[in-house]
Amino acid sequence: MSRLAIEHDSINLGQGFPDEDGPVDVRQAAADALIAGPNQYPPMMGIPELREAVALHSKHHYDLDVDWQTEVMVASGATEVLTSCMLGLIDPGDEVVLIEPLYDCYLPIIRRAGGVPKMVRIEPPGWVLPRDTLAMAFSQNTKLVLLNNPMNPAAKVFTDDELAFIADLAIAHDAYVVCDEVYEHIVFDGRGHTPLISLPGMRDRAIKIGSAGKTFSLTGWKVGYATAAPEVLAPIAKAHQFVTFTTPPNLQKAVAYGLGKDDAYFKGLSDEMQSKRDRFAAGLNKLGFGVIDCQGTYFMFADIRPLGFDGDDEEFCRHITTEAGVTAVPVSAFYLENGPKYFVRFCFSKKIEVLDAAIDRLQLHFKG
Ligand SMILES: Cc1ncc(COP(=O)(O)O)c(C=O)c1O
Repeated sequence: MSRLAIEHDSINLGQGFPDEDGPVDVRQAAADALIAGPNQYPPMMGIPELREAVALHSKHHYDLDVDWQTEVMVASGATEVLTSCMLGLIDPGDEVVLIEPLYDCYLPIIRRAGGVPKMVRIEPPGWVLPRDTLAMAFSQNTKLVLLNNPMNPAAKVFTDDELAFIADLAIAHDAYVVCDEVYEHIVFDGRGHTPLISLPGMRDRAIKIGSAGKTFSLTGWKVGYATAAPEVLAPIAKAHQFVTFTTPPNLQKAVAYGLGKDDAYFKGLSDEMQSKRDRFAAGLNKLGFGVIDCQGTYFMFADIRPLGFDGDDEEFCRHITTEAGVTAVPVSAFYLENGPKYFVRFCFSKKIEVLDAAIDRLQLHFKG
């Protein structure tokens, strides 16, 4: 879709990244550290400043006590943390419970690690966790659950009740829970974020994953961090040693600085995304899209059926790219198989004028 968007000079609301770089002081810290050095291999687990900052961030935001020396690992993006988790924790044939629709990198990594995916679906518009189906997806072969909260592309934030249910199942089946929480600071309407690792019984079986890319709107930096009990982190670190080993030291220094920013920064991030969400959702609603409630993340899920378009989600995305000059992604791509064919995902972490221009173009195309 991105290639097609370039060919047609289309406003690309497909790929998930902001079109404005994050805080200048964080970028300045990276620039300063680059010049000051050192620029040699940093420690495999991450520079002490960043590991300490990750631990302090968990204490400050979630009242979670973390030993930065033994319980934090830095890697090259959340994607690398996820890869190291799967390579480090899965033995061939182990089952991995996943919730669909799901972020696209999960399945290839799990399969490459020899894992067997067990899919559970949540359904729009409510995205309620189907508890019986989830329970049935567990077996004696379940090694771990991969939970994305807040969730891309569904833009769902799991309720504390749902998290407790997942935690109980993990305990009952002696499973790990790999928690992709890269959107922890992008939650809306007064919601807070509850890290699963903070729930009773989870401290020794959950891995909390964060990403500077999302928290500081600097997705190209690829700085991710994992928090887990020492014995859980050890096999993950072993995999990390031979996946990337380290992450650029100046970026680590800058992220350490950023994680210490005051509450106003983190609130400002979610407030800004929320106002973009509201403006874009209002525009889509006016055009007749069936916009699904967006509780967090950069993404909006929209039903195309009310528009009366004759075709599936993929045809629709091609159509609006070539004919209206706006690009979204077909949601069926976020399912292992047989996904619904009438939803598309828009990314709204863009400048207001870009979002407005996209709505104007869609308006011109659909309403004339
Ligand atoms: C759910 C989810 N996890 C992980 C990532 C990737 O994070 P990173 O860039 O830190 O590897 C993304 C990026 O879009 C994402 O949406």
